[in-house]
Amino acid sequence: MTDASVSKEINLSVMKRGEVLTLAVDSSAFEGKSVARWNGLVVFLQGAVPGDRVTARITKIKKQFLEAEVVDILDPSSLRTEPRCRYFGTCGGCKWQHVSYEAQCRFKRQHVIDSFERIGGFKDVAVRETLGAKETYYYRNKMEFSFGTRWLTTAEFEEHKNATTFEQEWPTALGLHIPGRYDRVLDLEECWLQSELSWQIVNAVREFCKEDDLPVYSTRTHTGYLRHLVLRQSSNTGELMVNLVTAERRDELMRSLCSRLIARFPAITTIVNNVTDRKSMVAIGDEEYVFHGSGTITERIGSMKYRISANSFFQTNTKQSERLYDTAKAFADLHAGDRVWDLYSGTGTIALYVADAVEEVIGIESVEAAVADAKANASFNGVRNCRFIVDDLKDQLTTETRWMSAHAPPTVIIADPPRSGMHGKVVEEIRQLRPERMVYVSCNPATQARDLQLLCADDLFRITAVQPVDMFPHTYHIENVVGLKRTDLLVG
Ligand SMILES: C[S@@+](CC[C@H](N)C(=O)[O-])C[C@H]1O[C@@H](n2cnc3c(N)ncnc32)[C@H](O)[C@@H]1O
Repeated sequence: MTDASVSKEINLSVMKRGEVLTLAVDSSAFEGKSVARWNGLVVFLQGAVPGDRVTARITKIKKQFLEAEVVDILDPSSLRTEPRCRYFGTCGGCKWQHVSYEAQCRFKRQHVIDSFERIGGFKDVAVRETLGAKETYYYRNKMEFSFGTRWLTTAEFEEHKNATTFEQEWPTALGLHIPGRYDRVLDLEECWLQSELSWQIVNAVREFCKEDDLPVYSTRTHTGYLRHLVLRQSSNTGELMVNLVTAERRDELMRSLCSRLIARFPAITTIVNNVTDRKSMVAIGDEEYVFHGSGTITERIGSMKYRISANSFFQTNTKQSERLYDTAKAFADLHAGDRVWDLYSGTGTIALYVADAVEEVIGIESVEAAVADAKANASFNGVRNCRFIVDDLKDQLTTETRWMSAHAPPTVIIADPPRSGMHGKVVEEIRQLRPERMVYVSCNPATQARDLQLLCADDLFRITAVQPVDMFPHTYHIENVVGLKRTDLLVG
């Protein structure tokens, strides 16, 4: 064992994977890892908490850093807390249940600061305290559970992996994937993420499937029936959707499941069956059959109601979404005469949320079904000053298109791109459009910082506010809202 307190020349060539070091963990790093130093060299640790003193086994040796996994916790950090879930550590759902919520919020804010400094090159940006969630359990309005064969120990798996009857040998599991293993599902009898009712439904569906001995779809043989169970539960209206995703249509069976569930759980407002024969494990159907209710649920955020179907995108934490959208609206500093472009508008939630404060909103989004939802939600809410366009932004947002010349340029741009951030062409076009104000919402501070550096080049825009909002307690993910103003309009 090597002691970190002994300072000596680092000779990486004599270090070996598997060697065990004693380390004092000093800070959090990206993707839920933490950082310790060994003779000045950075060690990224899996499974530790800042403040811990641990022994850790080296898993990777690089010139600039080491990677290691915790073997033993010698002195636990005061930031540790007892995880509530009995599956914590095995399940892929929550990574930070063992860290106090206050510390989680601090780490997430630090992640934003580090991204802005190291990737964006912003040295003096004031990042506000993370807007933490009031409810840190039971906060999700949607959960996707997978059917699979029960998760096996490594030894069991090795013993049976080549058996031709592998899929039939192990009982049906319904739950979440174990980390890094998309072929193994942890059979969950409870989960703290959605609601108590949701895991009761999961257990009832599993029971039904076992009684009927229904086969699980296999990604190895591409046979079987059961693929996913998706539950959507509105936080503000209480409406609840059960969506069974299967590899084929079996109406009689669905009707029987339906009567069982409705009798036992009267809170269920709609039941649908999505059918797909795709080979990949996505919980989306190519055909949808409604067996109970309307096939949609309604969710409310602020004064807006949103109709959500089984395959619609919708933010999964309703309560925090309201705070996220309120922040975006406040940072946009909207006026009655503003023309807002909502880029990457999805199902139009942000566009509709800000519509009452401005003259018009135009949403641009590449997924046709999302735009159809956005239009439906505009009419559902009686909003008349929002329009939605289906297109890829990197083609749409160019000055040559007819669309651009037919519309007055925006005074405000709100962008909420996917994790990969904005295409360079989109950034450049935003700069050409020179909106007075801009709000950039992102679930990935690293790509956001990269894009902001380009947006702010030549002092065209300045960052006016940065607000991390925690949408996913007990995970290392963070949503970040940034307000920008054109520099020539800043007073003083
Ligand atoms: C983070 S979501 C934004 C969701 C939306 N703001 C909402 O709250 O419903 C990102 C959206 O960008 C869309 N998207 C991804 N690439 C795009 C592109 N090149 N052009 C237009 N839209 C795109 C995705 O389909 C997705 O709906």
